[in-house]
Amino acid sequence: MSTRDTFYITTPIYYVNDVPHIGHAYTTVAADVLARYWRLRGRDVLFLTGLDEHGQKVQQAAAKAGVDPQAHCDRLAPQFTNLWDRLNISHNAFIRTTDKPHQSVVQRYLQQLFDKQLIYKADYTGWYCTFDERFWTEKDVVGGLCPDCKRPIEQLSEHNYFFKMGQYQEQLQRHILEHPDFIRPESRRNEVLGFLQTQKLGDLSISRPKSRLSWGIELPFDKDYVTYVWFDALVNYISALEYLPQGQPAGLRYWPANVHLVGKDILTTHAVYWSTMLMALEQPLPKTIFAHGWWTVDGEKMSKSRGNVVDPNKMVDQFGADAFRYFLLREVPFGQDGDFSHDAMVTTVNAKLANGIGNLLSRTLTMIERSCAGVIPERGPAVLPELEQRIEELASQLPGKTETGFSALQFRDVLLMIEELNGSCDEYIDKSAPWKLAKQPEAQSQLHTVLNTSARALRLLALLLYPFMPKAAAQMIEQLGLSLDLSQPLAAEAGRWDAPLAGSTIKKGASLFPRIETKPQGAKPVSDTPASPQPTAAAPAATQSPAPATTPAAAPAAAQPAQITIDDFMKVQLKAAKVLAAERVPKSEKLLKLQVSLGTEQRQIVAGIGKKYEPEALVGKTIVIVANLKPAKLMGIESQGMVLAAGDSEVRGLATFVEDVEPGTKVK
Ligand code: MSP
Repeated sequence: MSTRDTFYITTPIYYVNDVPHIGHAYTTVAADVLARYWRLRGRDVLFLTGLDEHGQKVQQAAAKAGVDPQAHCDRLAPQFTNLWDRLNISHNAFIRTTDKPHQSVVQRYLQQLFDKQLIYKADYTGWYCTFDERFWTEKDVVGGLCPDCKRPIEQLSEHNYFFKMGQYQEQLQRHILEHPDFIRPESRRNEVLGFLQTQKLGDLSISRPKSRLSWGIELPFDKDYVTYVWFDALVNYISALEYLPQGQPAGLRYWPANVHLVGKDILTTHAVYWSTMLMALEQPLPKTIFAHGWWTVDGEKMSKSRGNVVDPNKMVDQFGADAFRYFLLREVPFGQDGDFSHDAMVTTVNAKLANGIGNLLSRTLTMIERSCAGVIPERGPAVLPELEQRIEELASQLPGKTETGFSALQFRDVLLMIEELNGSCDEYIDKSAPWKLAKQPEAQSQLHTVLNTSARALRLLALLLYPFMPKAAAQMIEQLGLSLDLSQPLAAEAGRWDAPLAGSTIKKGASLFPRIETKPQGAKPVSDTPASPQPTAAAPAATQSPAPATTPAAAPAAAQPAQITIDDFMKVQLKAAKVLAAERVPKSEKLLKLQVSLGTEQRQIVAGIGKKYEPEALVGKTIVIVANLKPAKLMGIESQGMVLAAGDSEVRGLATFVEDVEPGTKVK
């Protein structure tokens, strides 16, 4: 048995009947990030997820399909387990409430409470819809109609069993007050407290007569009844410990759970029903119940009827599991509601991943490959001491600061800290210009300092990113030529800034996050443009730069461009554009593929400036582009504009600005 510090994390168990959507993926990914983080930190982690398989909906759906409910559940369960595989979820226990051992635990607990006289039988009277076969509360019913199917409803009385939940009201209030971390975030804690302080907590009906619903766990003390689905479901968090993981049951040493992650809509069932059930069973309460917010889609509520349900499988197909995971936890602070849109997803992938971590890795490794024969060099003398110090400071503080973030489940804060280090490294590379140092034989040791510093930062970034993007992090480690198994506890030294690194032979691989192409506003897709020759100005063979503004006096008259009117000139839309990423076009000496930002929009431009510039030298520069040029394909790659450069057959220099100018600003 392990003596390590345990960490027990759970997700809600999902109704097997629902198709998994972004909400299910959200909780499960968040739980996975915590599980991976604490495993890396050496804790003994139990990560439980699973399926809620009883109840009316499953029974009805199975009847409709003409199969028995268990067969129906077995058929549907893989839609969850397959998705968790695709999203790289590292749970080590998976529960289904139809598991026999779970059912026995539920019955055992019911019997215990019954024996202690904490369960009693009474009449229940409520508004019942015969069509939907369910009760509604007084406040749900409008004009005597069922709020769901709008058919008339009737008052119905039936015998049921009740759990004496009400008697724990005060004890629960006290527990919440004495344990500030019990319900998180703070706003949700206040909601639950407010409810308990102002309303009387009633008892909870924990049975359903079999005459109405037979698909459930039979009450051990009355075979005419099955257990209410929430009582059955909540017990999963503790029953799982008795028989999962399979073959090696976890045991009660994991209890109480460290974190129950839930959506805000199911906070009451956890904070009130589950807590009072545990009090009655004389078990300690979980340390934290964290309620996260809900996703809307393009500003609207997500629903089947609106047809806007976000399918996580499609997200994995389109963007990859790592990028989707990153987006989910980067977009909004955990605990608040968020809005999903395809555009927001693309922006995150391009701005934070392709131009962020992906670009830092690829530019660093490219330079190590070219200038150091693929071996990470030893540090030399300082090049930009202030920036180097800032990077080192950030890097040294990050392990501590991110631990605080993970402990508070503030995933977004952790990612912002990671992005800050990434940004400082980009700035460092832009300012130290290693591609220039590489050309100066006397500056080799300075070059080594820059490359060693970037590689060090990348190693740390990989470790910090691992819980969020396990595959990408493993690839970063591999490309840096390091051998670290990130699924195992990591020695604290491995994350230190001064851990040895020089001498490692890199293995530059495929780009981690290929950019997602977006169509420029107002530009037609290339396939719509005529296949006939493109305007020469956009042609690749030329320098991709227009003629210089002043024509050499000696130029033959025939080469003099015709005069144009101001109206002609005004047709050309020039704009300031910031280079986000740059790479060489394969098999071309001249062409570079640039990704530029025009503020609200991103463009891809192919420019014939590759003889003059190394791609790395351009990232971060603000240049001038012709923004309303018809897109053209150059060596099969779409170019959505043209850069302005001085020079004729040979490029002398790019047009840039003396002052800092916002990308997208008009140039006149
Ligand atoms: N079976 C119960 C839970 C029992 S736990 C003992 C249940 N299942 S569910 O399949 O409906 O769970 C849905 C989970 O997804 C809940 O945590 C819910 O908050 C979450 N979400 C459902 N729609 C959501 C969004 N639009 N956005 C984020 N999460 C959402 O409830």
